[in-house]
Amino acid sequence: MSVNRPAAVVVLAAGEGTRMKSATPKVLHEICGRSLLGHVVASSRNLSPEHLVVVVGHAREQVAAHLAEVDAEVRTAVQHEQNGTGHAVRMALEELSGSGVALDGTVVVTCGDTPLLTGETLRSLAGTHASDGNAVTVLTAEVPDSAGYGRIVREEDSGAVTAIVEDKDATPEQRAITEINSGVFAFDAQLLSDALGKVRTDNSQGEEYLTDVLGILRSAGHRVGASVAGDHREILGINNRVQLAEARRLLNGRLLERAMLAGVTVVDPSSTLLDVSVSYERDVTVLPGTQLTGSTHLSEGCEVGPNSQLADTAVGAGASVSNTVASGAEIGDGAKVGPFTYLRPGTRLGVKAKAGGFVELKNAEIGEGSKVPHLSYVGDASVGDHTNIGAATVFVNYDGENKHRTAIGSHCKTGADNMFVAPVTVGDGAYTAAGSVITKDVPSGSLAVARGQQRNIAGWVARKRPGSASARAADSASASGGPGAPETPGAEGAEGAQGG
Ligand code: UD1
Ligand code: CA
Repeated sequence: MSVNRPAAVVVLAAGEGTRMKSATPKVLHEICGRSLLGHVVASSRNLSPEHLVVVVGHAREQVAAHLAEVDAEVRTAVQHEQNGTGHAVRMALEELSGSGVALDGTVVVTCGDTPLLTGETLRSLAGTHASDGNAVTVLTAEVPDSAGYGRIVREEDSGAVTAIVEDKDATPEQRAITEINSGVFAFDAQLLSDALGKVRTDNSQGEEYLTDVLGILRSAGHRVGASVAGDHREILGINNRVQLAEARRLLNGRLLERAMLAGVTVVDPSSTLLDVSVSYERDVTVLPGTQLTGSTHLSEGCEVGPNSQLADTAVGAGASVSNTVASGAEIGDGAKVGPFTYLRPGTRLGVKAKAGGFVELKNAEIGEGSKVPHLSYVGDASVGDHTNIGAATVFVNYDGENKHRTAIGSHCKTGADNMFVAPVTVGDGAYTAAGSVITKDVPSGSLAVARGQQRNIAGWVARKRPGSASARAADSASASGGPGAPETPGAEGAEGAQGG
């Protein structure tokens, strides 16, 4: 592999991409968690080139800033006016020579808008180029519809490539050719540089065509070759949003296939979306309608979905996550999340912990075996191990200006419908009564009751709502002496009643 290590890879990305109809430069549109240009940079890196140069032009500050984030080692060359692909490559070579780099060996040229091209295909192109001893090798493909592409013209008897003719410059016979130019090439650096100086602009677009280099080199007696891509879908160039969606579908299919071959059950590939950066272990199950993005990791035997979106979230071994939206969360081994749960950044669910239906957590650590089963908001908090948080609890973390923390110990049972007004602490083994507004710390082992006393006003309905259905019902209840008869004095309810 190092034998075929190119001196440079040049990525063409100066065009505007008007057909995207977008304020965002075309090459910065994303599929599967990476920009189009990011995909091309990643596959180019697969060749381990000595230099990687991206030609920028349209929105160049924005594109260059993005590149600096994606790959700090990438160089940029500026093409102020888009005078054609040949001109763009010339700008890249001048940028390198201007900074004292003398290229010796192979230069690979590729485009910022062909995100599906794999590193393997680029390596095989570089390999063919080297083993055939070519001056230039063009990556071609047989396509079902060649409209818009440059056509590969071959000699009838020998099959040797003689030229590339652009769609707009082609004769009707040439238009019928189905082998097309992918826009990706391997060149001998010196011969490329010499030939670019001879490229003219006498064509229908008045541009310097990189494709003309082939004819120039061939006329000078150099070897011109082609490498046919095994799968024409790899060279799909993105010009509009229909092609963007198609590229996403194809790349997503590739990522899902890789996951399935690695031991992930994907129940419905057509409704499952993966980013390139998602990782997983074996025996994971992904149920329909699930989107996994960023650095999301799925550990062995976990089950995710249906209808879940996990971003930058780690799911522990054997955990289950259903109908959940999570971002920046850590879900422990054997934990249960959902259905209808929202985990926000900084959520850490311990081993076998639970976050149930209509529960939102943010910046909250829930200990081993602890449960937040129903209808609650837990923000800026820590909950110890084996604690149960009652239904409909709110961790009141915001005083209008600042956020405060709540700490709840281990083996606590907090009542339903509690408000924990932070900052507040509940000690280990403590209980709180249902309906309490907890504003003061609760010592370990205490029961905290913080709610109004109940007062039953006997006979109120008969006096204030005489003749009503309620009054009649109360009347017959007292006549039968059944449960809840109005004269029974109010007994204290069970203070620590839990939700569910
Ligand atoms: C080009 C090829 C064509 C090939 C097709 C494959 C030429 C003359 N034609 O045509 O044979 O079939 O790609 O997709 O090379 N760019 C610049 N600066 C420029 C012009 C273009 O950086 O001055 C960049 C674009 O941003 C793009 C790439 O080069 O990433 C290709 O340019 P584009 O205008 O899309 O070329 P096509 O007409 O598609
Ligand atoms: Ca194109």
